Amino acid sequence: MFTSLSESIIGRATERGVIGLKFHQLRDFAEDKHKTVDDTPYGGGPGMVLKVDVVDRALTHIKEGIKERSGTMPKVILLTPQGQPFSQRKAEQLSGHEDIVLICGHYEGYDERIREYLVDEEISLGDYVLSGGEIAAMAVIDATARLVPGVLGKEESSSEESFSLQDDHGHQLLEYPVYTRPENYKGWTVPEILKSGHHEEIKKWRYRQAVERTKEKRPDLLVSNKK
Ligand code: ADE
Repeated sequence: MFTSLSESIIGRATERGVIGLKFHQLRDFAEDKHKTVDDTPYGGGPGMVLKVDVVDRALTHIKEGIKERSGTMPKVILLTPQGQPFSQRKAEQLSGHEDIVLICGHYEGYDERIREYLVDEEISLGDYVLSGGEIAAMAVIDATARLVPGVLGKEESSSEESFSLQDDHGHQLLEYPVYTRPENYKGWTVPEILKSGHHEEIKKWRYRQAVERTKEKRPDLLVSNKK
């Protein structure tokens, strides 16, 4: 499932050694001959539950590897719809960590002790249920890795795109509208200001557009007081 991460920007960054990705199979940490990683819930009910002992052994192994390499402890994150919603702000925070471990399961549930004893943080991709945490993990990896210095080239710089612009209160703003040639396509024209060469005026126009656009499309971004 993770092969798409070897393509494009993230793939190039791993090849150049700017970031490193390592994948571990939970089954390798099962101890019985059937390689069992999940079991039925105590108290009954539908679905299978990911076992705490399997996750603990996997994490111990992974942490040992990280300790040998960098001498640090990783941040351990569980992908689950119960987690805090993933955001650009969260990606920024994570991009400053040396090592991150993402746990994703294809299971109805995680044994509660995984949450309680083994995990630092829970992250959700959004208020919907995916059939596994892998897609969520890939979104977290992609959004986080591209903020690590050296992952994006100068041309692709992340500093001026959607969600990096803020208003005076620190609210995130959506991206202002952008245009490229042709100047007139079927009578659909480019705003005059952008062709004026007045850089200060263009900057102000873009800021106003970003604010207007955010009010219209995502007013929720302007009322939250999270900074
Ligand atoms: N696993 C299943 N659904 C998920 C979601 N919305 N976010 C993160 N992990 C998940």
